[in-house]
Amino acid sequence: MISRSTIDRVFETARIEEVVGDYVVLKKRGGNMLGLCPFHNEKTPSFTVTPAKGFYKCFGCGAAGNAVGFLMAHDQLTYPEAIKQLAARYQIEIEEDQRANNDPAYQAEKSQRDRLWDLMAFAQQYYTRLLWDHPSGMAIGLSYFRERGLSDATIHRFGLGYSLEQSSALVEMATQSGYSLEELELAGLALSGEHRGYYDRFRGRVLFPIYHLSSKVIGFGGRTLKSDRKEAKYINSPETPLYRKSESLFGLHQARKAMASAGFVYLVEGYMDVISLSQAGIENVVASSGTALTREQATLIHRFADEVILIYDGDQAGIKAALRGIDILLENDLRVRVIALPEHEDPDNLARRLQGDVLKKFLIDNAHDFMAFQQNLLLKEAGRDPLRISYALQVVAASIACVGDPILRAVYIRHLAEDAGIPDSSVQEAVVQQFKLRAKRNPYTAQNPVNPSSNEFPQGNPNTAALPSTSLSDPSWNPKVQDITIPEVQPLSDLPQETEILRLLLLIGDQTMDDPTGGTPTTLVDYMSETLLSLTWDSPACRTLLELCLGRWQKEGCLPNSHELINHADQAIAAMATRWYTEGRQISPNWDQMHDIPIHPPTVNLKREIETTFDRLLLKKVLRHRRLKQAELKDLQQTPTGFDHPSIPVILREIHELKEAERRITARTGIVITH
Ligand code: CTP
Ligand code: MN
Repeated sequence: MISRSTIDRVFETARIEEVVGDYVVLKKRGGNMLGLCPFHNEKTPSFTVTPAKGFYKCFGCGAAGNAVGFLMAHDQLTYPEAIKQLAARYQIEIEEDQRANNDPAYQAEKSQRDRLWDLMAFAQQYYTRLLWDHPSGMAIGLSYFRERGLSDATIHRFGLGYSLEQSSALVEMATQSGYSLEELELAGLALSGEHRGYYDRFRGRVLFPIYHLSSKVIGFGGRTLKSDRKEAKYINSPETPLYRKSESLFGLHQARKAMASAGFVYLVEGYMDVISLSQAGIENVVASSGTALTREQATLIHRFADEVILIYDGDQAGIKAALRGIDILLENDLRVRVIALPEHEDPDNLARRLQGDVLKKFLIDNAHDFMAFQQNLLLKEAGRDPLRISYALQVVAASIACVGDPILRAVYIRHLAEDAGIPDSSVQEAVVQQFKLRAKRNPYTAQNPVNPSSNEFPQGNPNTAALPSTSLSDPSWNPKVQDITIPEVQPLSDLPQETEILRLLLLIGDQTMDDPTGGTPTTLVDYMSETLLSLTWDSPACRTLLELCLGRWQKEGCLPNSHELINHADQAIAAMATRWYTEGRQISPNWDQMHDIPIHPPTVNLKREIETTFDRLLLKKVLRHRRLKQAELKDLQQTPTGFDHPSIPVILREIHELKEAERRITARTGIVITH
């Protein structure tokens, strides 16, 4: 148990902006700092840190808390672990109460996950000790690393280690220290065979620990030192409760500071490539470790950089295969450049020949725009063969379709058309085609608008129907002119529901819906207006927008149109409207996280989905306001004038009205919200 005074010191010393800053690139915005939320996938920053008050809050997904809470949520640490991590960061000595780590009862209390973290740390320490202190570790492992040009400092920095040739050296060490065989297996450190019992996964190999961002070890890569072709060159940790390959990048923990300050990252293939480049002064480098890139990895990269420079070995077949995985980076709004090294050269060799500024200059000079690179490579290869040219065009068009920036997309379309010697319009068509294909492949990802050909989403509103939307069914979707670059948008309100209600009101408010009690069908606006007006709106911008909508509806029977809102004098409204109308009619990507409501595939009745969700939001809002009012009432009742305060009857009436609204919604929808 950590003593109370240690905990207090940690809280006094820890600075939220530094703690969060280890994980998120933060930019100053007035008294606050702003960045991309690490808890949900977002493209416009809505994650704020308020140093003066010591807390963070995401206006997109609602995550909020202090420095300790951040570490707990982000690294899935327990409270004591988070405190310990902060204590280590700020060099605060930890005073433990009597119950120490070797207390069996205390150990039993720790969750299995915690024990796995400990076990991984134990293994890593054991392997490093072998490398530096054990005769064969030094003779074989350490001398291997040194032969490959690594300095002792580098070997330490990456926590490299060595595993003995024996079959169960680690298993024995770890079991003697109180870890179970099952835990060793679960952590991916041991294997079990029918006749062999438990034995070490890594034997006679040099080891590359794979770190989590929290600087803890989650896995290992082990390279053989034998030239025996029968043995796998690398053996890696399997997927474990701690190590998810698709969400890890080798070197990220060591690279992230350099990434954030450079704004870009070099992506290479191998462990040694990362380490050698890093030693040569290129610290912003990570490796995908031989596997295809995933969306999670792209998101992870995007937290620290917005450009990726891929370094490929100079072999053509390898490059072509690798190109296929790159669209995932473009889709996640990362800029991509490529360095193709000369034949028989790899980043590791290169870093041995060139160093520091010379190396930096070489890399930057040789980095080419990805799209141009891919295009040249494929077109050159296709020669004059029409079928192969057409294939090449499709591949490049698919990449272009992933690019979010409309101007850049237009430039790429022009280049491709020029180089292939075909009209712009044909390329454009191919890009639209690829865009549709991609949307079909992953229709539920936040980036893609809901399938607009679905009949469940009537195109009722003449205003919205004419909007510049990225709607896929719109045959005039033209990547060149129609999209508007979306500016960074501050949420209109700190209550995401408020903004969301307004967005829906504007986009589909004029649709009619059946009255479940059998009355005449009404529009969504009519159906909602009474309740909407009876609520207190926290944000002035939301209130203005709501009044504008309802006023216009009453007087003219229509909603304000896109042009009017995009050019609204209130910049907050204008920016938000721009975003809404350019995003198309998709459900907010944070929807399910915000409201604990699963997003159903758009083929399910979308309209009903929206209605129900609308109701839930309203209900939540009503509830929230009622609770506020009740708190207010309680406070008043505790003042000296007590029960006689003149505001009390007003508040009581408001509470009554809110209860009525609650009852009406609950009766109509059957929804009950308890939290
Ligand atoms: N890799 C792997 N399993 C293999 C081969 C490769 O996991 N059997 C991964 C490793 O992450 C490796 C990367 O793919 O680092 C690149 O492989 P390769 O180029 O063969 O290895 P290098 O890292 O270049 O290793 P070295 O320079 O020591 O030969
Ligand atoms: Mn190599």
